[in-house]
Parts: sequence; structure tokens; C-alpha cells
Amino acid sequence: SLSQEVKVTFIRANGERIETKGKVGDSLLDVVVNNEIDLDGFGACEGTLTCSTCHLIFKPDDYNKLPEKPSDEELDMLDLAYDLTDTSRLGCQITLSKDMDGLEVHVPATINDARAA
Ligand code: FES
Repeated sequence: SLSQEVKVTFIRANGERIETKGKVGDSLLDVVVNNEIDLDGFGACEGTLTCSTCHLIFKPDDYNKLPEKPSDEELDMLDLAYDLTDTSRLGCQITLSKDMDGLEVHVPATINDARAA
């Protein structure tokens, strides 16, 4: 139903805004895949926490409201991401809830596949 829709905007490093919708329970990786958003290399490991290509940067307020803190496995992968920030998370580990409606996340300029190292 419509009430399950969550608006999400991805913002590229060049400022381009990509406005999309996901559903409650989708991961941010699901949103990228389901909307066929063209982010080269994004989500390479399909959410198995082995690539870090799904690195996204949150606004501090949104970051602090995320219900789940990153796991040790996520933190290890984030360490391998380029342009890491204090409000970085891996998109495959973030599950949409209704209160995230209107979320804006920044896509880092460089997508790094940790598996290529
Ligand atoms: Fe590979 Fe998220 S898709 S770590």
C-alpha cells in the first residue's frame, strides 16, 4: 500500500539528485536495484558484506536516528571504502522504516570494490 512507501533521494558527488521510492523493509541496496539507479559498481557483492561498494553518506541527524548501529563486519568493510566519513554506512545494511520517509543520502565520488584489492 502507499503507506508502505518511503521516499529516498540519492545525491551524486556532482550534486545530481535522484529521487526514488522504496518500501518499508527494503534495504537501500534494494532501492538502488529495484529502481535501476545507474550507480556504477554499486552493490557488487549483493549485500553479503564483502565489497563496500554500497557506501553511502548520511546527514548527521539521519545517521543518529538509524535504529541499528553498524556491526563489526560492517565497520571492517567501511574501513576499505574511499571518502569515509563519520556518518558513513553501507547501504545494504540499512533497512527502510516509515520514519525514514524523505531520507537524502550522498553517494561518494569513488566506489571502491574491496574484493579487487
Ligand atoms: Fe557489498 Fe553492501 S553490497 S557490502
